[in-house]
Amino acid sequence: MDGTMQNKNIMDYETVALDDADSALVVIDQTKLPAETTLLRLHTAQEIWEAIYLLKVRGAPAIGVAAAFGIYLLAKGIDAEDYDTFYRKFREHKDYLNSARPTAVNLSWALNRMERVCEENRTRPVEEIKRRLRETAVAMKEEDIRVCRAIGEYGLSLVKPGDGILTHCNAGQLAACKYSTATAPIYLGQERGYHFRVFADETRPLLQGARLTAYELQSSGVDVTLICDNMCATVMRNGWINAVFVGCDRVAANGDVANKIGTSVVAAVAKRYNVPFYVCAPTSTIDMDTPTGSDIVIEERPAGEVTDMWYEKPMAPAGVKVFNPAFDVTDNELITAIVTEHGVLRPPYTAAFQELFGALQNR
Ligand code: MRU
Repeated sequence: MDGTMQNKNIMDYETVALDDADSALVVIDQTKLPAETTLLRLHTAQEIWEAIYLLKVRGAPAIGVAAAFGIYLLAKGIDAEDYDTFYRKFREHKDYLNSARPTAVNLSWALNRMERVCEENRTRPVEEIKRRLRETAVAMKEEDIRVCRAIGEYGLSLVKPGDGILTHCNAGQLAACKYSTATAPIYLGQERGYHFRVFADETRPLLQGARLTAYELQSSGVDVTLICDNMCATVMRNGWINAVFVGCDRVAANGDVANKIGTSVVAAVAKRYNVPFYVCAPTSTIDMDTPTGSDIVIEERPAGEVTDMWYEKPMAPAGVKVFNPAFDVTDNELITAIVTEHGVLRPPYTAAFQELFGALQNR
């Protein structure tokens, strides 16, 4: 651990970084924000798994890049010269990391992409495979920045200077490498003097909106107002919101979207008040192998996150039953558009996805 650092803007840190010389995955410990900025140096499979499970590194794109760097470092440490032994150990690490969280498709997407590097280079020396794994992981981080910037440009085309924007959870820089998804239009607008008024839902129970989104937007000079989750109807009814932008963890083939718990409530309220509801999604998050939102595995997390965590004393009767799903599914009919790095997709989403992926294949 590097310890606690002060006097540096949170936006100056890399959410996820590779320190190859020290064989370390370096992440900001997001559970300590905004009070402390602590960098964690992760070396072992268990440390990486725990950092993902405990949300020290979180947000779909950041999880994907962390997994890519993590599996590269674990592969680098495999002591084997023959491909079969190397690949067997690689698979053990891959399956272990993949079990950390089930809902964000970026985790398995990144690990599968790294596995393909092994398979496609199986006839090469193991050292060469390791080198190519490193190149791929580094490229994935660079791609993430390019993709998020493109999402920002398309998202920005949907709003105008001075607009009020509501967002839920943290789909900001702390959830990705730069710009991120839901905040990309906000950051690009900020660079261009759009003067958005942003409302950030606090996002119970883990408060990613309060601790992370409000923090990073405020640190960037964005006009941000923090609200409790149950206030979204009030700000929409007041006419303060022109658009909702959220990120996502997995988009099913029919356009249903899994994102942080509470997202579907915001979408339903937005529909009631005629506020457009936009989901920002890199194409890597669109999972054509998952037919509908009902097929998405929703992570359930410990009861203590609802009853005790963040409170000085427990806020619920001891032993009370708790239901704590980390994500929910927003039905596609509540989604005005899905903003990808290749453009703004409108319903019907199945046809829009087929057209997009067809065009990408023919490139
Ligand atoms: O449980 P978390 O904090 O990892 O949940 C994160 C979200 O739901 C984000 O909105 C999503 O991953 C998109 S991040 C660009």
